[in-house]
Amino acid sequence: MKNKVASTFERIFESKPILAFAPGRINLIGEHTDYQEGLVFPAAIEQGIWVAIQKNNSISCQLFSEDYQQEFVFDINSFSPKKGHWANYIMGVASQFQQAGYVLTGFDLVIGGNIPASGLSSSAALSVAVGTALSELFNLKIPKKSIVLYAQKAEHLFAGVKCGIMDPYASAFGVKDRALLLDCRSTTHVDVKADFGDYSLLLVNSKVKHSLADSAYNKRREACEESVRILQPTFQKATTLRDIPSNDLAQVQHILPSPLFPKAKHVITEIERVRLASKALEANDLNHFGELLKASHKSLSDDFEVSCAELDFLANESWKLPGVLGSRMMGGGFGGCTINLISRSSMEQFQSEIYSKYKSQFDIEAEFIPVNISEGARILE
Ligand code: GLA
Repeated sequence: MKNKVASTFERIFESKPILAFAPGRINLIGEHTDYQEGLVFPAAIEQGIWVAIQKNNSISCQLFSEDYQQEFVFDINSFSPKKGHWANYIMGVASQFQQAGYVLTGFDLVIGGNIPASGLSSSAALSVAVGTALSELFNLKIPKKSIVLYAQKAEHLFAGVKCGIMDPYASAFGVKDRALLLDCRSTTHVDVKADFGDYSLLLVNSKVKHSLADSAYNKRREACEESVRILQPTFQKATTLRDIPSNDLAQVQHILPSPLFPKAKHVITEIERVRLASKALEANDLNHFGELLKASHKSLSDDFEVSCAELDFLANESWKLPGVLGSRMMGGGFGGCTINLISRSSMEQFQSEIYSKYKSQFDIEAEFIPVNISEGARILE
């Protein structure tokens, strides 16, 4: 894809581009905790988004998407989001840079990617790749963490999803063969060796894309914020659910209205699971690590209610199979992939059983995606 993006750029714009790359991400555990300043445990993958870019001495930005085979043009001094359009992520990041006081002029840009399924954060990869490319193009030397924050804000303002920081952070800071134990309050991480020994990570693509996912996501976030407001008089120092200790759950249940409690409980217990899972991985206790993945799925499905029949089926059926230590839905929910930790010797049997069970239940052909944990965003030579 790198070469394709570069050659398309040269063909359309007749000049040599700067090339940038940013990867998609997986998340080992820690779902819907980032926007409550909790802990998450993501990692960057090999696949991602490539951006070819060059200045064009005008005020016009001319974009071409390899994946959509589509162009889009906007004026660098006057632009606004266009509902549901891929160009929003590019305009959104450009707008964040401008608001921060950086001066941009017109540019030509080609994007293309190879992220194999939904739920692997292609939008964050695109924003981070564009941020990395623009910083290099205009010699702005913007720190990686600021690019992450601009990417997140771009998604809020130009795509309307009030996402947390996990996806752009993992895309920017990914380290080969290591998972990032990211504290979303301090926005700092420690990386932990992701060595699974005789086991491997495998994603199963449910191929479900829920059209209401974005609005449901924002609603879940609001429910958490509402819980914090209600808990605040009792837990006076709490500014997010991160501040509520998991051993105070009984009291929390007493205070919160019944529809809100399970949502808060998910976030509070999930943050605890991330702590335990990172320790289990460091201690090479993969059985415990797998149990925590399973508990995470149950909590996301039963309490946070962001799973769907297909993801529940995939997780439930996976737990029953030999050699499977853990399986859970991954990412925002309502579709996308499950992440599974499976013994290498059981891989083939796992795939054939899940494929046929899923096909007969939903008439969908599940797709299997092996994962290699890789480096974060970078400028390419
Ligand atoms: C999406 C969001 C992230 C995070 C996850 C759920 O991927 O972009 O910020 O909230 O959902 O963990």
